[in-house]
Amino acid sequence: MTDLDSDLRTLKERFERDVAAARDERALDHVRVTYLGRTGELTVLRRGIGAIPPAERPNAGKIINVAAGDMEAKLVAAQTTLERAVIEASLGDTIDVTFPGPRARIGSLHPVRSVMADIARYFSRHGFAIVLGPEIETDANNFDALNIPPDHPAREGFDSFYLRPDLLLRTHTSPMQVRAMRTSGPPIAIIVPGKAYRRDAVDARHLYQFHQVEGLMVGRGIHFGHLKGMLTGMMRELFGPAQEIRFRPSFFPFTEPSAEVDVSCPGCRGGGCRTCGGSGWIEIGGSGMVHPNVLRSVGYDPDAVTGWAFGCGLERIAMKKYDVNDIREFIENKPAFLEQLA
Ligand code: PHE
Repeated sequence: MTDLDSDLRTLKERFERDVAAARDERALDHVRVTYLGRTGELTVLRRGIGAIPPAERPNAGKIINVAAGDMEAKLVAAQTTLERAVIEASLGDTIDVTFPGPRARIGSLHPVRSVMADIARYFSRHGFAIVLGPEIETDANNFDALNIPPDHPAREGFDSFYLRPDLLLRTHTSPMQVRAMRTSGPPIAIIVPGKAYRRDAVDARHLYQFHQVEGLMVGRGIHFGHLKGMLTGMMRELFGPAQEIRFRPSFFPFTEPSAEVDVSCPGCRGGGCRTCGGSGWIEIGGSGMVHPNVLRSVGYDPDAVTGWAFGCGLERIAMKKYDVNDIREFIENKPAFLEQLA
């Protein structure tokens, strides 16, 4: 073995140890410069070839070149290993987007919303406009314009939440009859879904905040038959073609004549059960022909036009539709309850 051979062997051993010890690219670069750079150890050996006998030079050049090639290859391999380690380390902190995640819980329409949507669909189809109004109302709109003067006992019937002497949370959606008629028409055909408030004690059948839908149609020759037809159609849209409704004579200051609207009970079909309190019918709202005083208060001529109006409780309808016995269920936000009705 020549001196060159043994020099190369120890050099390569040191080189390999240094490569293995290099923890990052900078360290590896340092190794490259130390051995293969312009003043690197192998470069110095190659320059030394000029000093050996000419006959041995070609062979010496060949072994040095082979060693250099080998060392380059080792540096490239070490570089690749380091790069892969860097990538793998960073993957450890990263979210695997292909991993199946927890299933999202999909919500659904609240039963009251769903009833509202059914009613809105029915009336839209018949050319009614859907309008919304403010929940804070003047007592002039909530009462006076609806033929309920300040001393009228009906004001007591509505246990109202007053915000100021002249301002309250509307006790029904009926003030929107007044607002709508003052804004347009006649003729007019609208429904008004929305919230209403009464200072009632909460129990299985009462909430102090609830939903109503108001209906109003005024024009020439509008009569009670139209009211009966539209309400029957609405109830059949909600409960199917066999649904019966009935009108019971009643009193509201803003309608004359007035009638309460009942729907046949789904539980017993008229026989009498717990849901309907044994009567076979469930009350869902009030209705009647718009009182001439109301028409006058909005500037309509009661000799030229007539109209009907109704107001139904949406929770009442939803209770019947979904067979819910306690109205408080609707506001308790229990997912199990809502999912079951979805
Ligand atoms: N506003 C009445 C109530 O809330 C219902 C109603 C509306 C009655 C329209 C007649 C006409 O009880």
